[in-house]
Amino acid sequence: MPEIKINTASGNSRIILGEHLPDLLEYIPCENVVIVTDENIYKHYSSQFPPFPVIRIGTGEKIKNLDTVRDVYNQLITENADRSTFILGIGGGVVCDIAGFVASTFLRGLSFGYVATSLLSQVDASLGGKNGVNFNGFKNLIGIIRQPAFVLCDPNMLDTLSYREYLSGFAEIVKYAVIRDKEMFQQIEDNIDKIKKRDKDLILSLITDSINIKASIVEKDEGEQGLRRILNYGHTFGHAIEKVHDLKHGEAISIGMVMANRFCVGRGIVDQAEEHRVTNLLEKLDLYEGVVLDRNGIWEAMLLDKKKYRDKLLFVAIDQIGNGYVDEVSLEELHLFLRGVDKD
Ligand SMILES: NC(=O)c1ccc[n+]([C@@H]2O[C@H](COP(=O)([O-])OP(=O)(O)OC[C@H]3O[C@@H](n4cnc5c(N)ncnc54)[C@H](O)[C@@H]3O)[C@@H](O)[C@H]2O)c1
Repeated sequence: MPEIKINTASGNSRIILGEHLPDLLEYIPCENVVIVTDENIYKHYSSQFPPFPVIRIGTGEKIKNLDTVRDVYNQLITENADRSTFILGIGGGVVCDIAGFVASTFLRGLSFGYVATSLLSQVDASLGGKNGVNFNGFKNLIGIIRQPAFVLCDPNMLDTLSYREYLSGFAEIVKYAVIRDKEMFQQIEDNIDKIKKRDKDLILSLITDSINIKASIVEKDEGEQGLRRILNYGHTFGHAIEKVHDLKHGEAISIGMVMANRFCVGRGIVDQAEEHRVTNLLEKLDLYEGVVLDRNGIWEAMLLDKKKYRDKLLFVAIDQIGNGYVDEVSLEELHLFLRGVDKD
């Protein structure tokens, strides 16, 4: 099977592409394994799980917290987990974040791996070693960087993903294209129908391109001291929108990308034509449509952004499609922009 490697100071990961869940056993390095999954994945796929004890967690962003972590620790104790136990997370981004955090902290760190089941987790959440949970309303406030031994991406599992979750994951693929690869952006523009029909070959090729982009960035800057910050494109507004509005992660990030581009147009950094191209693409992918934004709520949420320091914020700008970079902007400028932003 094709593989992409991510080699960093904290560890190395193998990303296995196109492999199928029933063949998972060949990648697991030991026999002492505990599976962590969520109720949905258990319902769809438990018959194909390898024969190990399973810890089930609930679903949704609201359970990505220390209460769930404590429950999983307790169940690991019940299962007599020891330093030789391998934690296998099978699920979307929430399962990966919880399983990775638990594995990284239980007994000062166990080995772990993932089967990434949602498109968002295959192209983003399972990769790069960030394992964290939300705390007191702050997103991913508590966490640690540690690489999974492997990530298996089975494209067949995307068939059971709801259309809305699938498109939400696609937003991160658009993100990679906008910040790093204008040919990839063109390819997405030219294949909207195939994408909406979940054409397997095309999706696998776009997943591969996305993983390659993330892997090359993470290898250069695992700890997010510089380059890795560009992966937060669309997330300054997006995370705040996600917190305030009832939207999927990728839907909020899509609005965040449009707002970031409009902010860049206002600063004279990027042409309006480029902004329109990205907005049109997101509209065609049903990822950007009229939402009446709660500007005050979004502003308050932005003030809690982890990338804020004093009166400035590290913001990912683009000067053209295919080239994202990190810029320092004042909170005042962002506030002014937000107050004047179109209501749609
Ligand atoms: N650690 C990181 O680097 C990183 C990066 C990006 C996002 N994230 C996190 O990822 C999370 C979002 O991930 P997500 O969108 O995968 O959310 P999720 O894990 O909540 O999955 C979305 C829904 O789809 C279901 N699902 C997943 N795979 C399925 C499948 N194959 N078939 C049927 N249903 C399936 C899940 O049960 C869930 O209900 C957020 O918490 C975000 O903060 C983390």
